[in-house]
Amino acid sequence: MTDAIGYERIGDIAVLKAQNPPVNALGFDIRTGLLAGVERAEQEGAKAVLIYGEGRTYFAGADIKEFGKPPVGPFLPDLCNRIEASPLIIVSALHGTALGGGLEVALASHYRIATPSAKMGLPEVHLGILPGAGGTQRLPRVAGTQKALEMITSGRQVGAKEALEAGIIDKIAEGEPRDIGLAYAQELLEQGASRRAVGEMPAPEAIDFDTLYGSTLKKGRGQLSPATCVRAVQAAAESDSLEAGLKRERELFMELMNSDQRLGLIHAFFSERAVSKLPELKGIAPRELASIGVIGGGTMGAGIATAALLSGLPVVMLEMTEEAAEAAKGRIIGNLQGALKRGKISEAQFTTLTEEILTLSTDYAALSDVDLVIEAVFEEMSVKKVVFGKLDAVCKKGAILASNTSYLDVNEIAACTSRPEDVIGLHFFSPAHVMKLLEVVVADKTALDVVATGFALGQRLKKISVRAGVCDGFIGNRILATYRKAADHMILDGASPYQIDKALTEFGFAMGPFAVADLAGLDIGWAMRKRKRAEGMDPRERDSSYVDKMCEAGNFGQKTGKGYYVYEAGKRGGTPNPEVSDLIAAERAEKGITPRAFTDEEIVTRYMAAMVNEAAKVVGEGIARRPLDVDMTLLFGYGFPRYRGGPLKWADIEGLDKVLATIKTAAQEDDYFWEPAPLLEKLVAEGRSFDDLNKENS
Ligand code: 3HC
Ligand code: NAI
Repeated sequence: MTDAIGYERIGDIAVLKAQNPPVNALGFDIRTGLLAGVERAEQEGAKAVLIYGEGRTYFAGADIKEFGKPPVGPFLPDLCNRIEASPLIIVSALHGTALGGGLEVALASHYRIATPSAKMGLPEVHLGILPGAGGTQRLPRVAGTQKALEMITSGRQVGAKEALEAGIIDKIAEGEPRDIGLAYAQELLEQGASRRAVGEMPAPEAIDFDTLYGSTLKKGRGQLSPATCVRAVQAAAESDSLEAGLKRERELFMELMNSDQRLGLIHAFFSERAVSKLPELKGIAPRELASIGVIGGGTMGAGIATAALLSGLPVVMLEMTEEAAEAAKGRIIGNLQGALKRGKISEAQFTTLTEEILTLSTDYAALSDVDLVIEAVFEEMSVKKVVFGKLDAVCKKGAILASNTSYLDVNEIAACTSRPEDVIGLHFFSPAHVMKLLEVVVADKTALDVVATGFALGQRLKKISVRAGVCDGFIGNRILATYRKAADHMILDGASPYQIDKALTEFGFAMGPFAVADLAGLDIGWAMRKRKRAEGMDPRERDSSYVDKMCEAGNFGQKTGKGYYVYEAGKRGGTPNPEVSDLIAAERAEKGITPRAFTDEEIVTRYMAAMVNEAAKVVGEGIARRPLDVDMTLLFGYGFPRYRGGPLKWADIEGLDKVLATIKTAAQEDDYFWEPAPLLEKLVAEGRSFDDLNKENS
């Protein structure tokens, strides 16, 4: 026996208790212990075996940390088959989350009981793999083909009640898993119940698997695992025996296990959890957060207030005038009505959030007692300075003063207060009550407990919080500005916006950069370009003006019905705007550029090389602590395909030398834009990867 599985005899029942905190992952010790436990129970003449988990959960799945390492037996599929084949009655008592390999062990057991709060599912698709220990063969045998396919291809967890209705479990009972499991096993023995193996049940019904495979592949936008799951369930329905189905499941599982998508998704899983763990915050208690203030109730302020209210935080919203305050309230109500419609809050909660814990004011004195204020006024340094000066005067000692600025210098903002240690950037993304990313921008003098409070707020609002240093655009917008420029340059040189959008959506982005520009509003970039030109641009920087002409004609994208695309009311998406190609052609002619053809592959390669190069500069300068911080920023704020793990994980997989070679080739045409990042050159020279840096700094 190993320590990971406790063994105990209660009469005729052998009790196997999993004790591998925090989630009882089915690592080597657990697998060895389970196998030994079942064998010992059989040798000792027990009549039944109860399997349950200590702590917060039954098994939450295979041990993901073992993936990619040389496999060591006993293997999970063999263990499941061995459990199922036991002549004893095997009962599993489920609580917490029985996921992946965990549910597979439960399905290999002969009877299943669960607590009312237990959840179960096969989330392997989210890790780029499929259930590989019989889940695709056994779940459809108990739940039917349709239900199993829906659960396996989506990775959705079901509650105990739904699982009972679907035949996944046999019983629900209140109580500790050990107690309800023992009572059930005893009951089965008393009833003289026989062994009941799911694998021996008839094969599930066949459906039109080919059609479903095609539609699942399309829906996955390039992600392979959901569609591959369809093929595995097909094997359950169409194979001659369980063994043949299991063999096919194994082959498909190994295909996915060896894929780059599995690398990307596992990287995303661990990075999502590592991103908010900063060594310097260990043992630092965040400040108390009982209420917050928000200044400016426009797009962002209203979204931030909505997110805070939804987390139960009272909000004081400050606007310039009574009318603006009313308009802000209208926006917040609109957002909360959306939450109400989707069943996220009840009518009663809606009333509490809008009428009781939201206060509107035009007087700074209303902010004198809040613990944290987030400023979301116009993006103008002079305006922000006035606001922070007033906050400094009215806010209580220890209150945190935060700015939602997208680009401005948080050090400069902090310097206009008498308490720069209390000032921080909290950069939300639009719409702030929906988007998961929060950049916690740490200025030179920001106190550590203020940083800790930024992360605590992010956690409360269910955000993925990333630490960022101060620079123009922080992590995300700075990198975005660069890869957008790479796309703009390709347009001047001969690519069309539509080809670029298509190539990048095929790469896996939710939208291409020009469709995004139409959605955000072309006026934003226009204002930025005017500002940059007024400040004086480096003569080596390539500039283009065809979009300005669109803006001058009043075409700002979706909100005006026309931009790169033409939008018709009631229709989703747009069609290419024919005027754009003429404007681009005219600008090329004016600049004396002979357009050349780009392949889709070249578009993706250049776009990604620009993104990786700037990201490497951001890490090299310490603006992002680790490569994984950049990866999570792009994943949660910029629609980067999760199955590629993030730009720097993509670069590791692609090969850093290859990415650097692309940059150097492009630099032959434009060495100003394509200046290689020193960190990238260093890693290539040393034969190391971005992931090595993640490991060294986590
Ligand atoms: N393997 C290894 N470590 C795991 C793990 C797993 N399956 N599941 C969670 N962990 C780790 C986390 O990394 C985290 O570690 P950390 O504290 O060092 O950061 C710790 O356990 C706690 O996890 P969470 O912070 O996520 O805790 P929550 O309470 O928020 O969530 C959970 C718990 C719902 C179980 C969530 O962790 C989860 O969804 N885990 C993954 C479940 C999963 O995907 N299972 C399928 C695995 S693949 C498989 O089984 C293949 C098989 O078919 C062959
Ligand atoms: P907005 O124009 O929609 O809203 C600004 C609001 O601030 C208006 O309602 C205005 O009445 C109010 N306001 C202006 N000066 C004020 C003052 N002195 N006191 C009180 N209220 C005042 O602007 P938006 O888009 O919400 O942006 C706000 C901030 O958030 C900017 O700094 C912007 O850079 C940043 N941001 C914007 C994002 C976006 O996608 N729109 C994303 C992330 C950050």
